[in-house]
Amino acid sequence: MQRFADKVVLVTGAGSGIGRAAALRIATEGGRLFCLDIDQAGLDETVLAIKTAGGEACAHCCDVSDETQVKAAVSACIAAYGSLYALVNMAGMLRFDDTAEIALGDWQRVINVNLTGTLLLCREVLPHLLATRGSIVNAASTAALAGLPCGAAYSASKGGVLAMTRSIAVEYAKRGVRANCVCPGDINTGMTRDIDWPATMDFDLIGRISSISGPKEPEVMAGVIAMLASEDGIHVTGEDIRVDGGTLS
Ligand SMILES: NC(=O)c1ccc[n+]([C@@H]2O[C@H](COP(=O)([O-])OP(=O)(O)OC[C@H]3O[C@@H](n4cnc5c(N)ncnc54)[C@H](O)[C@@H]3O)[C@@H](O)[C@H]2O)c1
Repeated sequence: MQRFADKVVLVTGAGSGIGRAAALRIATEGGRLFCLDIDQAGLDETVLAIKTAGGEACAHCCDVSDETQVKAAVSACIAAYGSLYALVNMAGMLRFDDTAEIALGDWQRVINVNLTGTLLLCREVLPHLLATRGSIVNAASTAALAGLPCGAAYSASKGGVLAMTRSIAVEYAKRGVRANCVCPGDINTGMTRDIDWPATMDFDLIGRISSISGPKEPEVMAGVIAMLASEDGIHVTGEDIRVDGGTLS
């Protein structure tokens, strides 16, 4: 399949996990990748993997919560490739805090990266997507759909991403730009491995949103993201697709 032949795709969070898997998948389908992350070493690994597989990619280090950096990154993408067909917004962070103790700065950092960062990328790419009748795939979460204990900031940020994506979808539908979300559940990445749990965490409650069939590797997300970003998803907009092995069914 060459669904992205000669099409430019910007992937945030491309330095690891789901973003990397999506970038690799889209590159194998002919996409020209602009990989963005805050982690330069991770980006270098992703670009090397894409090039080794015969694909085309370049990397740009950027904090998605920083407006100036995001503007510069999207300008660099257009300068490098001349157009943009899809935005895959996977950059994000997770932290757990007892809600009675969460520091305001920790709340704000999660909202700034996950929600404001997603908005900043959407805002900057929309003029370019209008030109190509392109699309956006944002990362929400099963935490936007079911309660995540000690995850008030993360859940609020992902619920915001879900609502914002629907809003963009409706606003731009007549102009040919689509916006959708994926809601991953229990994907084995750095985010789900390296967790600093609060002392009050009740792990029975985490079980409610853990995958029935166990964690899965990030590649299970890549095909769904590629479908949504490609012409195969041409009549799908304002949708959120759970990729959680049926956990919340
Ligand atoms: N893994 C899961 O089970 C799961 C579940 C639900 C939602 N998600 C969402 O999927 C997306 C991808 O997560 P993942 O599981 O691949 O985790 P991950 O930690 O492997 O990848 C997240 C990437 O985002 C980058 N990042 C973090 N803060 C950034 C910033 N300020 N600017 C730019 N890049 C930044 C990190 O460097 C990292 O490369 C995230 O939005 C996450 O919230 C993941």
